[in-house]
Parts: sequence; C-alpha cells; structure tokens
Amino acid sequence: MPKKLAKKEFTLLKEQGYSVKALQLYINRVNVGSMGRPDVVFVYTGPCGDTMKIYLKLGENGVIQDAKFQYDGCLGLACSGSALTTLIIGKRVEEARKITVEDLLKELGGLPEIKRHCAKLAVTTLRKALEKLRDCKIVVDLKEYL
Ligand code: FES
Repeated sequence: MPKKLAKKEFTLLKEQGYSVKALQLYINRVNVGSMGRPDVVFVYTGPCGDTMKIYLKLGENGVIQDAKFQYDGCLGLACSGSALTTLIIGKRVEEARKITVEDLLKELGGLPEIKRHCAKLAVTTLRKALEKLRDCKIVVDLKEYL
C-alpha cells in the first residue's frame, strides 16, 4: 500500500533537497517487504540508531534475482533502500559489491546534505550482506573437500 504525503509535505521535502524520484520511491514503497527463502538476510544498525534489513535472492551465475528490505528509520533510509535494491536487481554480486554511496546518491537524484549518511547506511548494509554471502559460500566450498 503506497504511503500518503500531503501536497504541502511533498513540497516541503522537495525544498529540503529530496528529489521527486526519491519521494516517489518512498511513496510507492519500492521493494519494501520481506522475502521467503532468501539466500542471505542481513540486519545492520547505523551510528544514528536507524536499522535496515536486506533480503537477497540469487539466481544462477551469481545474478541478484530479487532484493527486498525493511527499515526502522527515516525517509532518507527508506528511499535509499528502494533505490539501492532497484539498482542491484539483475546485477552480478561482484558488480553490486562495487556500488558506492555516490552511485546511490546519483540514482536517487538528490537527498538533503544531512541525509547523505542514510545512503551510506543502505550501502553498508548491502556490503555486509554480500560479505555474509561470501562467508557462507566458503563454508559450502570447504564441505566439498571433507
Ligand atoms: Fe539514520 Fe537516516 S537518520 S538513516
């Protein structure tokens, strides 16, 4: 169910530096939710106290087939999570690992200066999830030799 923003609130947020694209991602709750049987789930709480939980589903040859997220935090984190999950779907894990905060800010098309750390929190959550995925793969590979 989309979020509702009053016109006045929308205008105010735009004036604060949120792009129309960022606000649309927030309103439409793009990729917000959980996932059954993900390949990896990771929860990360940033220094500000906000939390993001990311779910990733991989297809064959290491392509991210689906990505969802849940969050307990601000609007900046919500639109960052939506933009980031949109960016990584269809990418190989190695490509997703290389996504930077600057890439995400560019994809968002604008966040208020004081909200840039929200994009950083989203990117950090993704990177940690991908690290966890790599660690799991190492365990699987080792089993082949036992
Ligand atoms: Fe903490 Fe936005 S204020 S992620």
